[in-house]
Amino acid sequence: MSIVLEKQWNGDNARTKGKEPVSTPEQTNSIASCEDRRTVGIATVNNPRIRCVDVNVYYGNKHAIKNISLDVAHNEIIAMIGPSGCGKSTFLRCLNRMNDTIDNCTVTGKIELDGQNINDKSIDVVPLRARVGMVFQKPNPFPKSIYENVAFGPRIHGLAKDKTDLEEIVVTSLQRAGLWREIKDCLNQPGTSLSGGQQQRLCIARAIAINPEVILMDEPCSALDPIATAVIENLMNELCCDYSIVIVTHSMQQAARVSHRTAYFHLGDLIEVGKTEQMFTNPIHQLTSDYITGRIG
Ligand SMILES: Nc1ncnc2c1ncn2[C@@H]1O[C@H](COP(=O)(O)OP(=O)(O)OP(=O)(O)O)[C@@H](O)[C@H]1O
Ligand SMILES: [Mg+2]
Repeated sequence: MSIVLEKQWNGDNARTKGKEPVSTPEQTNSIASCEDRRTVGIATVNNPRIRCVDVNVYYGNKHAIKNISLDVAHNEIIAMIGPSGCGKSTFLRCLNRMNDTIDNCTVTGKIELDGQNINDKSIDVVPLRARVGMVFQKPNPFPKSIYENVAFGPRIHGLAKDKTDLEEIVVTSLQRAGLWREIKDCLNQPGTSLSGGQQQRLCIARAIAINPEVILMDEPCSALDPIATAVIENLMNELCCDYSIVIVTHSMQQAARVSHRTAYFHLGDLIEVGKTEQMFTNPIHQLTSDYITGRIG
């Protein structure tokens, strides 16, 4: 997995306005202090799929996300970690404008998908959310059959030229989500009749059926047992050949197993971003170190 990213990174360091990087792994072994809230590490990549610059989110007067600049590379899995309430889900929702649905929520800054500002007035959120799909913590199949759960998106987005084509998209998506063999004989059963792990894979099949560029996953395995979790993690590994995946997780073991880079959030600040192995073995920031060693959170 890391080989793909080695090609794309090229030693870019944190690029921020008003949040200059204090250090990079190459420059120093010293630890940034707890008081220092500037982002350290590798926050940018060459040719990003998503580029966020100075993103702020407010819920009314509450400043939930503070001046965050972060890129998502093509074909990478980037994990967002940090204590509860630090802003991981809020940041994730910025990436497909799901915060638009929350009253009193204001987002500022620039978020580009393939160079296009997604907050531009001309952007229609429906096709945007097809390009940047989302899988939630709790699987949320539509109250429809397994088949219809997957067919719905391609149909409304006009991705299939006829019925046969639609069937092929459904079958391929279910195969790629690792669910096909288990459900191929009961496609007309309700999606809600599946187990939790199967429902989560159904939601992933639904997300990939519309051919997204990015998949956002907010704690997708938190309700699953270790076997179902392993199935989803293997799936993520395969899907990142085609997509970029941004995953929020409370499991540092999961972040270590699946992600190429990890971003550590703390009270609305993006504290550190780096290659996952380096973050977990040799963090630059004291707050990251405290979190991964269990001293905070
Ligand atoms: N709809 C909302 N209205 C007001 N404040 C909110 C809303 N959603 C989140 N917040 C606040 O924004 C901050 C960040 O919340 P967020 O849900 O993004 O954290 P998180 O890191 O995802 O936490 P967790 O790990 O518990 O899911 C928190 O202080 C939270 O109380
Ligand atoms: Mg959350």
